[in-house]
Amino acid sequence: MSTVVVVGVQWGDEGKGKVVDLLAREADIIVRFQGGSNAGHTLVVGGKKTVVRLIPSGVLHSGKVCVIANGVVVDPETLVEEIDTLQQQGCLSDASLLKISETAHLIMPYHKAIDIARERLRGEGKIGTTGRGIGPTYEDKMARAGLRFVDLLDDEIFSEKLARSLQEKNSYLSLILKETPLEYQQILDNYLRFRDRLAPYVTNTSLYLHHEIMRGRKVLFEGAQGTMLDIDHGTYPYVTSSNTVAGAVCTGAGIAPQQINGVIGISKAYTTRVGSGPFPTELFGSEGETIRRKGGEFGTVTGRPRRCGWFDAVVARTAARLNGVNSFALTKIDVLSGFSTLRVCTAYEYKGQRYEEMPASANVLEQLTPIYEELPGWSEHLTDIRSLDALPVNTRRYVERIEQLVNVPVKMISVGAGREETILIRPTFF
Ligand code: GDP
Ligand code: IMO
Ligand code: MG
Repeated sequence: MSTVVVVGVQWGDEGKGKVVDLLAREADIIVRFQGGSNAGHTLVVGGKKTVVRLIPSGVLHSGKVCVIANGVVVDPETLVEEIDTLQQQGCLSDASLLKISETAHLIMPYHKAIDIARERLRGEGKIGTTGRGIGPTYEDKMARAGLRFVDLLDDEIFSEKLARSLQEKNSYLSLILKETPLEYQQILDNYLRFRDRLAPYVTNTSLYLHHEIMRGRKVLFEGAQGTMLDIDHGTYPYVTSSNTVAGAVCTGAGIAPQQINGVIGISKAYTTRVGSGPFPTELFGSEGETIRRKGGEFGTVTGRPRRCGWFDAVVARTAARLNGVNSFALTKIDVLSGFSTLRVCTAYEYKGQRYEEMPASANVLEQLTPIYEELPGWSEHLTDIRSLDALPVNTRRYVERIEQLVNVPVKMISVGAGREETILIRPTFF
């Protein structure tokens, strides 16, 4: 049995796509288990950039099986576009290389309309969602009112369920949200077209994964978003609507806890967040601007500038515990070259109390004082470095200090966006 889970330990965009693409060389199957097209995972291979939203980041390797498991909410239009683009690049040439869970829920046009309209009504208090209908789709799932792939496979069941659902959503859209109601026939026609394209991939992915794991195939589970965006453990209410922690693999892919062998936590060497919500180590001045510019910190999905700040060990420590992280992959350390001094947050303080782990209250998170430690920076360019020994001594000290503060070993350091721009301290992860 050989399975590895990759999760983001911050607020998303840690470089999961890059790391999963790299690790996928060793894997047979790569699985998305939660989230939807709110994710934007960037892969850079041979200087060419590919962004995937729903299809697992192993897709550029030929012959690997990509699975979209039951915990994912799927916008079929986005998925069809993604498949088309990838097939034009020569990927997913065979239908057996992509599997979609029959119990994954469908994002419908009214979910997107509701997401966008609600954010508009929230005004200043908005969550800053990606507007992709993620929250409303998971709400329907929990309310037992969602539409799933298995429904889409049957014309009669789908048209009936859609009619029932749309009637309720149109009342909500027009009466409460003051939006234009949506048209039944148009949605039905579009979704039946998507169905014709996607039906060959739909299957029982939980059973498939069970058999493959039992026969010793190597499976990589790719998290989306990050631990601080988890619906239970993140900075609620400024979170996404799914569980993003490693434990969500069991429910989101339908495998047993004993079938998980290792967890890799991905963290940037600093911190970013896109959207609203507390961010204790956020930088508002020129240092934040420098990180944003050098790190190209603009949202992959929405293009919004990402908020930037110092590395936060409280965030990483909490996430390491919640996910059972065995090793860290530290990304974008190249972006920190040129700072004479770097700061890392070791703990928080609020009203005389010291916090080593994330407090639950968004109010406390907004008002606390981060406790910083200063470390000497480095000026060297890091992107061409491929071994730990060749890193400047201050870079190594920075990495070692993070390991101490979080109590997890760093086993991979990413020094550039490209697949090969990586220092592998542990040669293999399976
Ligand atoms: P994900 O959502 O976790 O997959 O991350 P995103 O793809 O949204 O954002 C990460 C961004 O950083 C992408 O543009 C990557 O190409 C880029 N990236 C990843 N690792 C590195 C790195 O080590 N150095 C630099 N400079 N860029 C990186
Ligand atoms: P990847 O997988 C960064 C954020 C949104 C918003 C909040 C809720 O690329 O790391 P949602 O649309 O999910 O209801 O938005 O979560 N968010 C992300 N931030 N990376 C992501 O995905 C994100 N997915 C959602 O910005 O603050
Ligand atoms: Mg992203």
